[in-house]
Amino acid sequence: MSNAEAQLQQVFPTDEAIPPHARPFHYEQGMRYLLDGAVAEWPGPCQEVRSPIHIRTQTGTEAPLLGQYPLMDEAQATRALEAAVSAYDRGCGVWPTMSVAERIGHVERFLPRMLAVRDEVVRLLMWEIGKSYTDSCREVDRTIEYIKQTITALKELDRSASRFVLEQGFLAQIRRSPLGVVLCMGPFNYPLNETFTTLIPALIMGNTVVFKPPRYGVLLHSPLLDAFAECFPRGVVNTVYGDGAAVVGPLMKSGRIDVLAFIGSARVAAILKHQHPRPNRLRCVLGLEAKNPAVVLPHADLDLAVRECVAGAFSFNGQRCTAIKIVFVHQAIAARFSEMVATAVEHLQIGMPWDENVAITPLAEDNKPEWLRQLVLEATSKGARIINDGGGAIHGSVFAPAVLFPASLASTVCQVEQFGPVLPIVPFTSDDEVLDWLIESPFGQQASLFGSEPEHLSRFIDPLANQVCRININSQCQRGPDSFPFTGRKDSAEGTLSISDALRVFSIRSLVAAKTTEDNERIITAIASRRLSNFLSTDFIL
Ligand code: G3H
Repeated sequence: MSNAEAQLQQVFPTDEAIPPHARPFHYEQGMRYLLDGAVAEWPGPCQEVRSPIHIRTQTGTEAPLLGQYPLMDEAQATRALEAAVSAYDRGCGVWPTMSVAERIGHVERFLPRMLAVRDEVVRLLMWEIGKSYTDSCREVDRTIEYIKQTITALKELDRSASRFVLEQGFLAQIRRSPLGVVLCMGPFNYPLNETFTTLIPALIMGNTVVFKPPRYGVLLHSPLLDAFAECFPRGVVNTVYGDGAAVVGPLMKSGRIDVLAFIGSARVAAILKHQHPRPNRLRCVLGLEAKNPAVVLPHADLDLAVRECVAGAFSFNGQRCTAIKIVFVHQAIAARFSEMVATAVEHLQIGMPWDENVAITPLAEDNKPEWLRQLVLEATSKGARIINDGGGAIHGSVFAPAVLFPASLASTVCQVEQFGPVLPIVPFTSDDEVLDWLIESPFGQQASLFGSEPEHLSRFIDPLANQVCRININSQCQRGPDSFPFTGRKDSAEGTLSISDALRVFSIRSLVAAKTTEDNERIITAIASRRLSNFLSTDFIL
């Protein structure tokens, strides 16, 4: 055992050392599911949920059992789909035909219910996926804020749609209407936020939803089931759990999913899309892999670049789709920069989610540390060194962050999305080396540029703008603010999300148009003034 590994032996707490607000617990409600407006207990097979946070005992460590969730089958997934299909009722259901103001009312009623279970969700986030207490709180609060801003954005959208348009002898009203049944699947790293940033806009635009939580981060959805059941009409929200091939495959093959909202791997997204028998009727909103590079130019402010690159690469153990996953640094400053990164990484605190200032926490995915170890080994066989003390040490689910320098572009860690606390640093001499890599990369989400010379930065900005969808100057890559468009090119995304874009992506424009004759004006005025239609309406939401 190496020294670093020996030190890591103490990383997990004893039971007594866990503070009161973060105590482990057995969550009893995980076997509940929501179907057709009712929350029920699943009587069938279950999946045990064990925490990545282990507890030190006299004899070793134990992964506490957090609870169970349902392992559903095709028949149950089909029931969930049928409930959503029937609530949509080919566009004639209560929910899709309801006025926008009324739908907003339902979502507004959901908000305080969500707030009421905030602490329970935070605690489950920590124990299920090992996210720090601070980040877990932030994830829940950011999601609540996202919902509020979605309501505001929809009100604005609806206000502009409540006017009639007069054009070339036509009188028209143009509004956005729902698409049908949406299958929502979020990722394990933001199991609440990234599920809800599709689920809530999908719902509020009048679609009905089947949602499947990710493989890790399942129990934390359970405290919200009653709120969904009580705040929305029956069948509008339904949940399925279990193995993707068993429950999601049949949904896609049925051809009755109208929108696939999926955040995960490009491989799984491709399988799901191809399972749909009528691809032209399927709209996809996808957030997939990324390999966001940071490019550090010779005149960069190194303190700032190091701070941003370390935060960008290692927050939540590098398990963010927007994480910086490779750094290109100019040869002239490569030695100094990499030394500074190594020192900063040595100061990152490895610990438990509730530890103050913790940066590196246990990894949720089974066998992830071993997979990362193999990536590091292969990179070192191709010339890189682990340049931070203790980098790459493993204890159970904890992987000590590793900085690899000088990394070869031929190594796997420079080509795949590592989604973990490993950072390859690649020295470069000519700008074209970096641009060629970016052009050839299968990914195209974001990039970070560090530098202070406007001319040199500009030589990257124009070509990069056609390779990625956000160029961050002197800062790490990130999704926020949530009002900014969040998307990617190539294998990184399909569709754009932001508070207002998401409303558009889960809806389609429909219009009522009539020639401006006296008769038509009289008819349309009567419909609007007598409030005979929810669509053809001049009601103004305040
Ligand atoms: O994992 C992808 C997340 O949407 C990234 O969000 O940049 O705010 O951490 P973030």
